[in-house]
Amino acid sequence: MTAAGKPSERASLDANRRLWDAWTELHEHAPFYDLGGFRQGGVRLRDYEIEEVGPVAGKRLLHLQCHFGIDSLSWARLGARVTGVDFSPRAITLASTLAAELGLDARFIESDLDRLPDVLDETFDVVYTSRGVLGWLPDIRRWARVVARFVRPGGVFYITEIHPVAQVFENEGVTPGELRLAYPYWEHLDPLVFKVVGSYADPTADVGDHEEHGWDHGLGEIVTALIDASLRIEFLREFEFVDWPVDFLVESPDGLWRLPDGTPDRGRRPLDRARTGECAPRGRSRRAAAAVLRGEIPPPIRGGSGAGAGPLDRRRRADLLRRMVARGPMTGAAAATIVRLGHVEYRVTDLGRAREFYVDLLGFVETVRGVGYRMGPGG
Ligand SMILES: C[S@@+](CC[C@H](N)C(=O)[O-])C[C@H]1O[C@@H](n2cnc3c(N)ncnc32)[C@H](O)[C@@H]1O
Repeated sequence: MTAAGKPSERASLDANRRLWDAWTELHEHAPFYDLGGFRQGGVRLRDYEIEEVGPVAGKRLLHLQCHFGIDSLSWARLGARVTGVDFSPRAITLASTLAAELGLDARFIESDLDRLPDVLDETFDVVYTSRGVLGWLPDIRRWARVVARFVRPGGVFYITEIHPVAQVFENEGVTPGELRLAYPYWEHLDPLVFKVVGSYADPTADVGDHEEHGWDHGLGEIVTALIDASLRIEFLREFEFVDWPVDFLVESPDGLWRLPDGTPDRGRRPLDRARTGECAPRGRSRRAAAAVLRGEIPPPIRGGSGAGAGPLDRRRRADLLRRMVARGPMTGAAAATIVRLGHVEYRVTDLGRAREFYVDLLGFVETVRGVGYRMGPGG
């Protein structure tokens, strides 16, 4: 604990490590992971990530926060020479045992993510991390620097992770489709601390007395941290599903969790592909974007859910956006509008309106589908 009675970062990470040791013991036998089935063969990765990472045969692949290695060993089954890293001793022991038992080309290292550069002095063709990793990390910029440290020149980093927007809603004691704004979107210094009941793999299991210490990071913070760490973003895809149980979503026949039919953005296709770096804002629009971000001029779109703007008029907003999109690639000014609205609405205590904002944000993203954008004014 610190003098102020808040947990120090070290105390938070230690609490999380104890939790992950306990969860590993549970997960080894949980149907969610089906370790028995995995021992028989097969690959537990999603088709889209195998496609997007590309062929890995013969490549050196570093898996960060690998848990007990079931995804790492899947990459090994696809021919990668795998190094998995996790801070849970129990997870690393189980992963190493499995690798030996299955005769797969994989080694596992026990290390806190931040300290990895002290114990591993190599670079990799592929650095990979997935599903439920970022919320355990206090500082996304530190994480991005560690990631970049291990990508060899010409190599790639790939991450597939829950969308930060999905993390702002209450996930317990709510019904499908009930989007109750409850948690921060942007990164915060102090962790959110929860008493743990069960685990995502088995919500009713008795795992003993544990706490979970978590942090949030906005999409822009994550992407910008990677750019600042000198990585070039090739693509950013957003999906409308989560692949583990979430109370405000419903399970689809394909085993993924989505908003139920009838919720406003259900049935829309998500933003398919947004690239950064292809549509650098020029001249006036770039200066305008910078001014908006500094708060010197109001954002260019009015009449929505911004401060004092009156009731949400979705049709008018959609028209304006369509006209903007028709003018060409969106620039920082439009992205700044999201930031500005987010900031204003985030402070609204009326949950009904906050909920409208998020639905509107999803609508915004859908409206500009397929158009490249830049976050912030750019250099
Ligand atoms: C949800 S799991 C990753 C899931 C993995 N994709 C899977 O389904 O098996 C998150 C992992 O992050 C690890 N972790 C959390 N904080 C960490 C830290 N600071 N350094 C290293 N590993 C950490 C945990 O031990 C856990 O194994």
